[in-house]
Amino acid sequence: MKIGEVFRRLVNEDFAILGFFVRNLRRFEYIPVEYIAQKLRRFPPKELDARLRKLHKLKLIERHPTMDAYRLKMLGLDCYALKILADRDVLRAIGDMVGVGKESDIYRAMGPKDELVVVKFFRIGRTSFRNVTRVRDYGVAFERGTWLVRSIVAGRREREALRILNEAQVPNVPRLRGGCLHAVVMDYFEGVELFEVKELSDPDSVLTDILDTVRIAYWRAKLVHGDLSEYNIIVTEGEKPIVIDWPQYLTTVDPNARRVLERDVLYITRFFRKRFRVPIEFEEALQYVLSPLDEGDSGKGS
Ligand SMILES: Nc1ncnc2c1ncn2[C@@H]1O[C@H](COP(=O)(O)OP(=O)(O)O)[C@@H](O)[C@H]1O
Ligand SMILES: [Mg+2]
Repeated sequence: MKIGEVFRRLVNEDFAILGFFVRNLRRFEYIPVEYIAQKLRRFPPKELDARLRKLHKLKLIERHPTMDAYRLKMLGLDCYALKILADRDVLRAIGDMVGVGKESDIYRAMGPKDELVVVKFFRIGRTSFRNVTRVRDYGVAFERGTWLVRSIVAGRREREALRILNEAQVPNVPRLRGGCLHAVVMDYFEGVELFEVKELSDPDSVLTDILDTVRIAYWRAKLVHGDLSEYNIIVTEGEKPIVIDWPQYLTTVDPNARRVLERDVLYITRFFRKRFRVPIEFEEALQYVLSPLDEGDSGKGS
């Protein structure tokens, strides 16, 4: 079942229960039904039981194999985040998945003015989940619990990065439209990831745009991307490169900032040299990025 279909089956009472799981995420993994009943007194035991079974059937929560207890699943966190975003009028509708990243699922969605946006749901630790299940019992509980919590932390970090970048008016990054928990809502960009692009009409100019984003982020927003590569750049139809995926950003005062900036610049210049034969040296690109901005300078051509 698609996430939108699951979402439409939920009523306010279901969200109240999901909200209880979300609020207790850092304290419990499995929550005993008895405890839920004690805390959510508005639900008579029969109704609570029926609702928990409904949420379990929809795969939003799952039952402990032996105990009368449930834990929140990622889909439950997704639906609860969507509810908050719908109530805040950040989102009007959720559509299909458009991308699976290393650490996220990306959905197309509709904003309040029927505009196309994307919702990025973080899934931190998804890839190593199989290894995690092999560790000791309490270790599983701990790691499993932190899986959702760490996704929430990443969501907050990416929203923070985009907020700072947007405020500093750094060009060619998505505009943050909102978000909560592990969800980030931003502009949708029609395009292809740079690693899939075999040919550009003006690769020098595309690289300059990317270096301008890096440079202006560094000087005006005081941020370093930290994972810049051909996988985190979307090239639009007009050959505008959009730099995405910012949760691992560093601030320029971080002791590692300079080293990480150099790595970002190295990777991207090396890619352009190999793929598009752009005759640029790393040192030259680094010097460009590290040259301070003139006031009113928006980058290109300086
Ligand atoms: N704003 C966006 N517009 C269009 N597609 C996007 C957008 N953000 C992400 N995507 C797509 O989803 C993929 C994963 O997003 P990304 O932010 O890089 O997450 P991850 O951390 O999982 O790599 C991207 O490579 C891209 O194809
Ligand atoms: Mg990415």
